[in-house]
Amino acid sequence: MARPWIEAWHDALYGTDGFYAREAPHAHFSTSTSPGLVDVLAAAVVALMRREGLDHFVDVAAGGGELACAVSALAPDRDITCVEVRPRPEGLPEWIRWVRSPGGAGLPDGLRGLTSSLVLAHEWLDNVPCTIATRRPAPPQLRDCEVVAVLVDRSGAESVGDPVAPEDAAWARQWWPDGERIEIGRARDDAWTDLLSRIEDGLAVAVDYGHLREARPQDGSLTAYSRGAVVDPVPDGSCDLTAHVAVDSLTHDRLITQRELFTELGLIPDAPDHGLARTDPAAYLHALAHRSAVTALTNSAGPGGFWWVLRRVS
Ligand SMILES: C[S@@+](CC[C@H](N)C(=O)[O-])C[C@H]1O[C@@H](n2cnc3c(N)ncnc32)[C@H](O)[C@@H]1O
Repeated sequence: MARPWIEAWHDALYGTDGFYAREAPHAHFSTSTSPGLVDVLAAAVVALMRREGLDHFVDVAAGGGELACAVSALAPDRDITCVEVRPRPEGLPEWIRWVRSPGGAGLPDGLRGLTSSLVLAHEWLDNVPCTIATRRPAPPQLRDCEVVAVLVDRSGAESVGDPVAPEDAAWARQWWPDGERIEIGRARDDAWTDLLSRIEDGLAVAVDYGHLREARPQDGSLTAYSRGAVVDPVPDGSCDLTAHVAVDSLTHDRLITQRELFTELGLIPDAPDHGLARTDPAAYLHALAHRSAVTALTNSAGPGGFWWVLRRVS
């Protein structure tokens, strides 16, 4: 049966037998929390916590707890809480708290009143299902067109449904005025606002591939991953379903790219001195590996182009 993408997407990822009920993210795709990279991301988290004077790290969409472990190793004096759909991984250090979450736009009831916290949602919002819509009729009068939902069945076949809710149409007019296919970010905006409401005092940070109003992806960005490959987006629970985030519509104080932020935090090292290769080859190789990881995470064509959405709450 064909239904709006937002519903099919939610069930495919977070239903009882959904993708994230069964699968660990790193079995299907790599992120900045993958081995060899996670220590650099953790250094950025710890630098931000120190700069903002925060004691508690809350990792929303914690995956397998990789980032939490790396932060704990760098800053053992900080409290750490992971919030995740998936069960607590075996072997996670017992001092790291683990809170189960319903998934998608839903957050756990118990996650409230956070104080002195850096609340980081790394690659969460791209996995929050959103309404996918199209403008009818087609160009050239896109701005005046009716915005109708795109429906999908379990095979991935799409059809066109009814006009979207007035709030979604208003979002499309304000935030995605051009382009025929629209990924309506209202569900992400609301999920982010809900996360902000859980914080009494701290810094909320969302990190994701994203886009701005001036340059939305003309054909949308819905993508599916399975076992390391890009596959057709089919909402049957067999693959991850993700779409880039309209970061400018999220409540924020600052939008900054990962490359800019790492530079600002002084995390980009110089090349190690060749002399070190003779006097301490192990230290030289370590410095070289670290620099390669930083280069990978600050490459503007890759993770360096990730948006960091910052919102201070007090
Ligand atoms: C793309 S993975 C990112 C994992 C990790 N942050 C990383 O960057 O490697 C998305 C993760 O978000 C989790 N997730 C989705 N919705 C969530 C929610 N509402 N609360 C907590 N975790 C959620 C999924 O279970 C999945 O592990």
